[in-house]
Amino acid sequence: MGLGALSDGLAPTPPMGWNSWNRFGPFVSERLVLETADALIESGMQGLGYRYVVIDDAWHESVRDDNGDLTENRWAFPHGLRWLADQIHGRGLRFGLYTDAGTRTCQGYPGSLGHEASDAAKFARLGVDLMKVDWCHTAGLRGRTTYPTWTEAILATGRPMVLSISEWSRDRPWEWAGTVGHMWRTTPDIADTWESVVDIAERQVPLHAFAGPDHWNDPDMLEVGNGGMTEDEQRSHFFLWAMLAAPLMAGNDVRTMSDATRAILTAPEVIAIDQDPLGQQGRRIRRTASTDVWARMLADGSQAVLLLNRGGVRANVRVLWDDLDTFGPRMAHVRDAWERADVGPRDGWYDRTLAPHAAALLKVTPL
Ligand code: GLA
Repeated sequence: MGLGALSDGLAPTPPMGWNSWNRFGPFVSERLVLETADALIESGMQGLGYRYVVIDDAWHESVRDDNGDLTENRWAFPHGLRWLADQIHGRGLRFGLYTDAGTRTCQGYPGSLGHEASDAAKFARLGVDLMKVDWCHTAGLRGRTTYPTWTEAILATGRPMVLSISEWSRDRPWEWAGTVGHMWRTTPDIADTWESVVDIAERQVPLHAFAGPDHWNDPDMLEVGNGGMTEDEQRSHFFLWAMLAAPLMAGNDVRTMSDATRAILTAPEVIAIDQDPLGQQGRRIRRTASTDVWARMLADGSQAVLLLNRGGVRANVRVLWDDLDTFGPRMAHVRDAWERADVGPRDGWYDRTLAPHAAALLKVTPL
């Protein structure tokens, strides 16, 4: 680890929480954030690890104050962000806040270029636990030379803060971000569509070697519960993110979510795969025109296996024990992580016939 590395143990497993952007865009407020924090607790999400409450873009005033500081929009945040951070911390949650590495944020608010040290210090004073640093209005900058400035700025504050690098994979962040930040976006923005989920999954295929404890590929925030996908599609999206050891940032309205949405976001054995302490990102081990098999080694010596039907018609998807690295024995025990039910011992392989865009998430343990 080089000088100024952020490999500080703050993110031993992929960070989990909620972020305002996917569902609320620029319409953020104190009330939304507080109600969401309460809903994270009441829904059981906090207990399962969703602990970062992240305010994304557009929390600001459109100009810096007389001291040159970013300031919150007082109409939206009447008690101020320091007060809000205290409320969040008082609930046992952590506070995340957004800025941008360029001259302006994506929504046109003041950016942090040239203000990295003072803005990081301001965030630390506010009680921020996670900084998302975005990449709009960065003409002429490169990610690999810009983000280390943020690493230094955060270290100089003395406050542990997760650095969430949001440069959309422009400068191949997996090559350099491992010691610069705790997580880095590997794609352009997700959309609430099946096509977007499949496109993002495809882009993760070559990236598994770059992730591990304290340094995670980030295929972007969740769209579960936002209305654009069927229940099967949302489950497949969540299962894929678990296989990818992705940060799990809920992006929906957790105050009003349906039981079906809640069931997906709180599926304990799916979350356990995402949060497995080995931190090994899943690999795609088989692909046909319409199906995928992904596998992920787990700390207890078993493997998580995802059977996925990308196609528009029913499909049978099979995993062979021979295709799973390190599997010697022919017999293995299969458990369905979504159903939370044992399938039983299987000799050599297992298969499932899946509806269009559906998936099965399994835990396979050699016997
Ligand atoms: C970019 C980021 C998003 C979100 C918006 C906010 O598009 O990639 O995640 O932060 O900006 O404007």
